[in-house]
Amino acid sequence: MSKAKRISALPGDHNLQNYDQACRTFNFEELAREFYGDAAWVNVAHRVLEDNIARGLGDRVALYFDGDDRQETYTFNQLNQQVNRFANILEKHGLQRGDRLGLFLPRSPELYISFLGAAKKGVVVVPLFEAFMEDAVRERLQDSGARALVTTADLLPRVPRQHLPGLKTVFITRGAVADTDNTLDWHSEVTAASPVTRCCWLNREDPLFILYAAGADGRPKGLVHVHDIMLGLWYTSAWVHDLKDGDVYWCTADPGWITGIAYGFLAPWLHGVPVLVKGGRFDAAGWCRALEKYKVSVWYSAPTAWRMIIAAGREVYGQYDLSSVRHLLSVGEPLTGDVMQWCMETFGIPVYDTWWMSETGMNMICNLRCLDIKLGSIGRPVPGIKAAVVDDSGKELPPYHVGNLAVQRGWPAMARDVWGDRAKYEAYFKLAPWFISGDAAYMDEDGYFYFQGRVDGVINTAGERVGPWEVEEKLKEHPAVLDAGVAGKPDKIRGEIIKAYIVLQPGHQWSQQLKEELRSFVKNGLAAHAAPREFAVKENIPKTPDGQVDRKALRGWVLELGGVD
Ligand code: PRX
Repeated sequence: MSKAKRISALPGDHNLQNYDQACRTFNFEELAREFYGDAAWVNVAHRVLEDNIARGLGDRVALYFDGDDRQETYTFNQLNQQVNRFANILEKHGLQRGDRLGLFLPRSPELYISFLGAAKKGVVVVPLFEAFMEDAVRERLQDSGARALVTTADLLPRVPRQHLPGLKTVFITRGAVADTDNTLDWHSEVTAASPVTRCCWLNREDPLFILYAAGADGRPKGLVHVHDIMLGLWYTSAWVHDLKDGDVYWCTADPGWITGIAYGFLAPWLHGVPVLVKGGRFDAAGWCRALEKYKVSVWYSAPTAWRMIIAAGREVYGQYDLSSVRHLLSVGEPLTGDVMQWCMETFGIPVYDTWWMSETGMNMICNLRCLDIKLGSIGRPVPGIKAAVVDDSGKELPPYHVGNLAVQRGWPAMARDVWGDRAKYEAYFKLAPWFISGDAAYMDEDGYFYFQGRVDGVINTAGERVGPWEVEEKLKEHPAVLDAGVAGKPDKIRGEIIKAYIVLQPGHQWSQQLKEELRSFVKNGLAAHAAPREFAVKENIPKTPDGQVDRKALRGWVLELGGVD
C-alpha cells in the first residue's frame, strides 16, 4: 500500500548540508508527500516491516538482541512473522483497533514484537518502564483502561489485578504461568499462531501509543502519540542521526521512555537500519564490548551513561575496539564538557546533543552535522521547527534573555492529546501558537539555544523524568510524614538527585532508620529511580497561594540560596 522510500528520498538536500536553505524551503506537506506517496492509509508496523521486505531487505538483520542469557538475531522477515503471529493472537483474544495493550517487561525481543503486533492491528500500546512498582503500574493501567498486558512472571506481582477489572488478558513472556483462564504463555500462543495476518490500515491521526510522562503538580500525563509520528522520525533520523545504509544503530534508552521507542527502533527501522538492543543492567565493560561486537556505527546515549563509563576508567573502555562508531548523539540531560572531551579523545569525534521531550515525539533542537557545535548549547532547531524563548505572556525574547523554551505548534510527531484530559493537553498551548516545554533557555545571536533547567520543578535524574508530586504523595502516605516537598539537587554524575524535605508527624523522630524506611517506601511503591537520595526535616513546606508546593522556593532550598537545611 504505502510506497517504500530510501533515505535518499528525503526532499532536497539529502545529507542536510545547507541548514539555512533547508529551513527556508522546508515544508511538512511536501515531506508527507515524499514519505507517504499517495497512500490514503498508513500503519507504522507495516512501514517498518513489509515495506522494508518489499524493497529487498527481508534477509537483512533488523534486531540484534544481546541479553544476559540470550543472544538472538532477527531479520526483517523473521521479525515480521513473529509480529504477525502476535497480531493474530491479539485478535483471537478480542482486542480491536483502539483497545489498549500494556507492555510491562524488560528489554527483550518479545517487547518489540508485541509493540509492532499491536500497532499492526491498530491496538494502542501503553509502555511501562520495567522498574515501575505497583502504584505506578496500577495508575497507568487504570488510567489508560488497558484490556490486555504483556509481562513476565517475576513482574506480575506488581500488577494488582484486583484493582484492574478491565484487564482481561495477561501474556507471560518468561517464567511460570499461573493456572488461571486469562493468563497465557506468550510463546506457546505465538508459536501456534499463523505467521500471516491482515494489516489494519489506519489514519495518520490514529493513536499508536500512550506514554506517561511526569508533570510537576499532578499525576503523570498519558501522552497520546499517533502513527504520524513516523514522518517526524523518518526525517530527523536521516538529518540528525545521519543514518545510512550499512549502519548499525544503538540507542541505549529503555522502550519504557520516549527515546527508546521513537529512536530505539521505530526511526532506524523506517530506514531499514539494524538495531542493537542490549538487555540487562548498565555495565561499562559490557556496553563497550557490545559496541565492538556489533560494530555499532551510530550510538545514541546519555551523559550519565558516558560519565559512568568514564568513571570505570581507561582500563575498562580501553580494552575494546570502538573504531566502528562514526556518529555519537546525546539526549535527555545537559551534555557536559567532560563527556565531550572524552568522546573526542576516545572516538576522535564530537558528540551531538539533541533536545526534545516525550511531548514532542521527535528531536527538536539539535547540534546538526552541518553546523558548528558550540559547547554548552543544545544546538539549533531542526528544519521545519520554529523555536523561541518567550516570556510568560508568549512574547519572543531577544538573545541572552532566559525565558520559556517554546516551539511553534504544528509538527507531525507532537503528542496529540493527554489521554482522558483534553484540558491538560491544551494547557501546553496556553500561549498560542507556542507549545510551552517547561524548560528554561536562552538563545544567542546566531540562533543557538542554551538549556537552563526546568521551569516547573520536574526532576531529571540520570536522564529519567520524575514528577515531584508523585513522590510527595507517596511520602505523605507514610505514617511518619505530615507533609513533603521534593526537588532536584544538582549532582555531578546523575545531573540531579532527588532531595525530599519532610515535615514529621507529631511524635515521630528523625533517624537513619526512618530515612531508609522512607526510601524503600517510595522505591517499593513507585520505582527505585524515584526514591529520594537525600532528606531534610523541616517545620513546614512552602506553598503558593493556591496551596501547591512552591517549587521556586524548594529550588532555592536545594541550591542553598539563603535557605537553611
Ligand atoms: O528538561 C529537558 C530534558 O528532558 C526533558 C524531557 O524529558 P523526557 O520527556 O523524559 O524526554 C527525554 C528525552 C527526549 C526536557 O524537558 N532534556 C531533554 N533533552 C535534553 C534535556 N536537557 C538538557 N539537554 C538535552 N539535550
